[in-house]
Amino acid sequence: MNINPRTAAELFEVQFGGPPDYLVRAPGRVNLIGEHTDYNQGFVLPMAIDRDTIIAARRRSDRVLRIYAANFETTAEFELGPWARSNEHPWADYLIGVAQQVEELGKPLYGADCVVIGDVPIGSGLSSSASVEMAALTLFETIGGFALEPGEAASLGQRVENDFIGVSSGIMDQFIVRAGKAGHALFLDCRSLQFDHVPIAMDHAVFVIADTGISRGLAGSAYNKRVRECGEAVTAICAVTGRKGSHLRDFAMADLDAARHTMEEHVYRRARHVISENSRTLEACEALRAGNADRLGIVFNASDRSLRDDYEVTCPELDLLASLGRSLPGCFGSRMTGAGFGGCTVHLVAAGIAPDFCTRLQSSYATATGIQSTVVPVVASSGAYGIPNR
Ligand code: GLA
Repeated sequence: MNINPRTAAELFEVQFGGPPDYLVRAPGRVNLIGEHTDYNQGFVLPMAIDRDTIIAARRRSDRVLRIYAANFETTAEFELGPWARSNEHPWADYLIGVAQQVEELGKPLYGADCVVIGDVPIGSGLSSSASVEMAALTLFETIGGFALEPGEAASLGQRVENDFIGVSSGIMDQFIVRAGKAGHALFLDCRSLQFDHVPIAMDHAVFVIADTGISRGLAGSAYNKRVRECGEAVTAICAVTGRKGSHLRDFAMADLDAARHTMEEHVYRRARHVISENSRTLEACEALRAGNADRLGIVFNASDRSLRDDYEVTCPELDLLASLGRSLPGCFGSRMTGAGFGGCTVHLVAAGIAPDFCTRLQSSYATATGIQSTVVPVVASSGAYGIPNR
């Protein structure tokens, strides 16, 4: 955690007078591999990172949510229902959406004064929105005296994205932000929601993230388009093979190849990415458990190629960062991470040379693009929790 929770508590005193009664935190995440597989009910391998959203809060006696967003130095106030998105304060939608879902579950919901502060970069593919959602949920659970299971909590966050924000995203981000464990990645089967904390058994390698500085502005519509294309592939495969299945998770490469002639070329490539990425995620999981950085790096590179050529969710800046990273000494492998179209790359780098790697990647990217990117090692951190407020 880089932000001291005391900072949130002090800001609360300034904004609202008196100390907060509650402090909660939730991390951002980096997806190691398993990209665009979650909404196809496949496999993912993300880890929570040492960047957080922190909320300091005090319960109110009415049904008002008053939120000071420290990152934007602005305050917004809402009634807890009727539920509507805020045009003026889009950042608040993640809290309002969570409050609505809590109420729809029939759980106790109270008004609160809140300070929200975070250092998860916004729009960089590190799940700043899931971080705010799961911090808000942890707060409402603490005040309301109830606790959801990880799957229930993550599904609630997914409903906020799907039904309130309007992005057809999967369950990965909220799941890892809720259920991450320090020193571990999380292998998740997005169909059964069974998960396993996978120890990061590599003393000799670290994960580095590099930000393109390109915010994924158009991601919403392009993302939803990919979701639809995957659905088209499923329909075509079912029609040709006579097999039953609801998601690409249900099919092997041979099924896809049998139906190739009936679908548009780009739809075929989308499905080829998803089916092959599921296999790569299983392989990466084994490599991580075995502490085999060479093998994990190779799988990273293959995933990146597939996302660039078949799924077409990279952009020139992501491709550049990934290839610059790969060309530096001590890099085992590089790939884009998250939804794509901008945001971050993740690199697996020999531990001893990580500081040098960061400096060199930052400077060669700046020379090529004029963009000062942030390139930093990240540490696998814990999922959301309430911080004892002493
Ligand atoms: C975004 C979505 C996730 C997932 C990734 C791509 O982060 O929120 O559900 O689909 O993109 O892997």
